Amino acid sequence: MNAPLPDHVLPAHPHRPVPPAMLAALRERFGARCSTAAGIREQHGRGESFYDAAPPEAVVFCESTEDVVAVVKLAAANAVPVIPFGVGTSLEGHLLALQGGVSLDLSRMDRVLHIHADDLTATVQAGVTREQLNRELKDAGLFFPIDPGANATLGGMAATRASGTNAVRYGTMRENVLGLTVVNASGELMHTGTRAKKSSAGYDLTRLFVGSEGTLGVMTEVTLKLYPLPEAVSAAICHFPSIDAAVRTTIQTIQMGVPIARCELLDANAIRAVNAYSKLGLREAPMLLMEFHGSEAGVKEQAETVQALARDHGGEDFQWARTPEERTKLWTARHQAYFAALQTRPGCRSQSSDTCVPISRLAESINASVEEADASGIPYWIVGHVGDGNFHLTYLMDPNDPAELAAAEALNVKMVRRALALEGTCTGEHGVGLHKMGYLLEEAGAPAVAAMRAIKRALDPQNIMNPGKVFSFD
Ligand code: LAC
Ligand code: ZN
Repeated sequence: MNAPLPDHVLPAHPHRPVPPAMLAALRERFGARCSTAAGIREQHGRGESFYDAAPPEAVVFCESTEDVVAVVKLAAANAVPVIPFGVGTSLEGHLLALQGGVSLDLSRMDRVLHIHADDLTATVQAGVTREQLNRELKDAGLFFPIDPGANATLGGMAATRASGTNAVRYGTMRENVLGLTVVNASGELMHTGTRAKKSSAGYDLTRLFVGSEGTLGVMTEVTLKLYPLPEAVSAAICHFPSIDAAVRTTIQTIQMGVPIARCELLDANAIRAVNAYSKLGLREAPMLLMEFHGSEAGVKEQAETVQALARDHGGEDFQWARTPEERTKLWTARHQAYFAALQTRPGCRSQSSDTCVPISRLAESINASVEEADASGIPYWIVGHVGDGNFHLTYLMDPNDPAELAAAEALNVKMVRRALALEGTCTGEHGVGLHKMGYLLEEAGAPAVAAMRAIKRALDPQNIMNPGKVFSFD
């Protein structure tokens, strides 16, 4: 596939049926944990993307790595697709069973297996969510920072190389996964990485699997880096006369090396949406929502530096959220922004862009996109992990208006091409899934995609691991 498909069109795929004998074997081993009920299948054949569901033929609720091995061995013997599923928060169509097959629901694999507080590592089953892990870490005075907004599973986050609000300070899943247990495409168990902080031992398979979107194997356990809870945490909001002013403040903050922990942009449309949804009374003007972590003195110094930069750019009414309750209220509203915005246009469909550019190019990347969006007349909203050069401009499209769908799609393509021209990427955090396959080819180039395909063919010669995603197999 060379060109991006229009947002709402699914590529055609052959159906690869689950043979009756395989279904019988799954039923025998898993009993009621193997479901073919329409509602369950439908729920597992979609995510939070705008695509219609493409349900798997069966869903198996796995409770252990051995369960996953058993399903994948059967799938390998029958050349049947398997699609790992966590809690279904993917935005890019990762979970659609394009060729049928079996959805592996890992949400019951929810045990935190080890917390090594002295080493700042934890090993979790793939179905543990980030909020659950943080609850279990709290008493040890530790936390796991990666926060994509949704309460996603750590397996799903590793699979999409997720990031989100804290990545500007702590990195993404790429920097924070030390090792994995993977069931490969023939159903064998593999371990990658160790609990050591670094290693020069051979190919870095951990990083190959992190971000592989279920196309190379099924991750069943993840070993993660942890961090001590900071001594002091302070959040602040600041309004700006324009998006450009907020972005320029951000760029300078990063260029000065301020170790800001979170630096999020919300445009006036996003604020209107969260005000309504989360009952807040924020001013409807471009805003940065920031958080600082460190010692009391360090946090104060960071905040003063950013406050001065904000003033230089016309930033007004820097307000502090000092108590944990105030902070939670603001961050919960930010995390719910996606759903809040969808509700501002009932019945709409949206496609969340997530381009990411080098920090010095962020103003060019956002400003031109905002001008186009304003000129289009299509409702849209913006939030962004701007400290990373990453933002979401999301059009709220009327699915019954083909002209509007086509116009929004064309603007999405322009936005991505602009990011690529600025030496950035088509996806900073949501992954390629289905919708960005054409963009990946443009970004990486044919020889690099051919190298990815060669790896995929070597590790999954029957193309049973989440087929039809990231790039075409043939
Ligand atoms: C967010 C998701 C859409 O940032 O990535 O809210
Ligand atoms: Zn995001």
